[in-house]
Amino acid sequence: MELHIDEKKLLKIFQDSKREEMPVSELSKNELMNSETKVMRTALWLSGKELVDIIEKKKKHVRLSKRGEDALNKGFPERRIANYLKEKGSNNVPIKDIDNILDKSEINPALGHLKRKNIAKIEKGIIYFDNLDYKDDEEEVLKKIKTDANIEKYNPKIINLLKKRGLIEIEEITDRSIKLTKKGKELIKNPIEIKEEISQLTREHIVDGKWREYHIRSYDVSIPTEEVYPAKYHPMTRVIYEVKEVLIGMGFKEVKSPIVESEFWNFDVLFEPQDHPARDMQDTFFLKYPNSGEIPGNLFKKVKDIHERGVVDGKKISKGWNYEFKKEISERMVLRTHTTVSSIKYLASLSNDEKNKPHKVFCIDRVFRNESIDYKHLPEFYQCEGIIMDENVNFNNLIGVLVEFLKRLGFDKIRVRPAYFPFTEPSLEAEVYLEGKGWLEILGAGMFRPEVLEPLGIKKPVLAWGIGLSRLAMLRLGLIDIRELHKNQLTWLKRVKYVNK
Ligand code: DAH
Repeated sequence: MELHIDEKKLLKIFQDSKREEMPVSELSKNELMNSETKVMRTALWLSGKELVDIIEKKKKHVRLSKRGEDALNKGFPERRIANYLKEKGSNNVPIKDIDNILDKSEINPALGHLKRKNIAKIEKGIIYFDNLDYKDDEEEVLKKIKTDANIEKYNPKIINLLKKRGLIEIEEITDRSIKLTKKGKELIKNPIEIKEEISQLTREHIVDGKWREYHIRSYDVSIPTEEVYPAKYHPMTRVIYEVKEVLIGMGFKEVKSPIVESEFWNFDVLFEPQDHPARDMQDTFFLKYPNSGEIPGNLFKKVKDIHERGVVDGKKISKGWNYEFKKEISERMVLRTHTTVSSIKYLASLSNDEKNKPHKVFCIDRVFRNESIDYKHLPEFYQCEGIIMDENVNFNNLIGVLVEFLKRLGFDKIRVRPAYFPFTEPSLEAEVYLEGKGWLEILGAGMFRPEVLEPLGIKKPVLAWGIGLSRLAMLRLGLIDIRELHKNQLTWLKRVKYVNK
């Protein structure tokens, strides 16, 4: 059993004294302890290890009051009268003469005590003593109390009388003693070695070899301590970092794009018709300033053609949307509504040479939608978007990658079902199964349509997916209200545990 040096010291006192039980007062006088608090603290540890019992006995102690001290020094008033008469060589004195001997306040009580104890008779105003050297138990006891406070040694009647006279005070104290248990007795049969103990090993201890002489204190890490709240990342940041790590581990690289975008990049390039309801005021934040942005002329022409007639470089590849595509709409500025913009801008930025190579990129960022705030909607939230572009990638590969991605995020029951997005075909939605919650939709994905890719000059298939990270964070943190994520309540932030999957 691992013992603290003080525990060893206390046990050593028992071992040396060959006693089984010792009062704390005595133990604390031993030079190995030297203080009562130390004895008690150590005894508590030892009793936790069942090596000793702490035995408490309530005891009454008696001691002289201030008046008692005086009475002992000057003599009881009744004794002072007797002594006075002894000096005078008489056995009686008129009461009226007593104020030579006693204070006014002492006279009446003194007469009472003389009568009560049958020391003197009082007749017609004169006090007669039988024996001027009378014996008084009360005096005797008071004298003894001065040196021995143990109340049990005295006649309770006398104690009562002295107390009534205000000569003594009684206090209740707890006498503690430490007693070895059976286990403790066993343990001290072996020699106890007291080695200097250190709790920190320093360079010096190692260099001069002193560490060999010391006992290095071990720590009990299971003991509860005060809670500490060191600095840490916000749980939302943790989610972002975790997802980033997973994606980087899967071979993706990160791309970024601005928060403020033209409708051209946010919608047109993604083959979303300019009259698509998603562009309505209720979903998109339109900017007053800047209210229009520049768009690349070359690409604009191509995107206009695909929207209006489904034509790329003079070749008809689609039905198109058959409406009049307007530059003023393309130029309007919005807060991006999804991170799909980052993917598409990345593809648009590729040189001809790069277009022949495979690409895997992702973007994690904030997106904005004009939603009214409730437990699952905020006007501003995080999305994570990724694409894979390569020679022969197909829809099955997309599902495979997503299942792997979701597994790495800790979801093991996953299913996909068909879905619709304006810029992908075919499209799917993935759901994950959560104990007690059932199937939850977690991401959208698909293969970019030719109407999206061809105007950019991309000939290879591109797999794409988008996942709501705020949603993921809620699942991770067990939140039912998305607003909690951004309230930044310190008590929650301090306590919240984030465990990487
Ligand atoms: N951009 C979509 C949204 O915000 C999510 C999405 C769906 C992204 C399918 C994709 C995708 O890349 O293929 O709801």
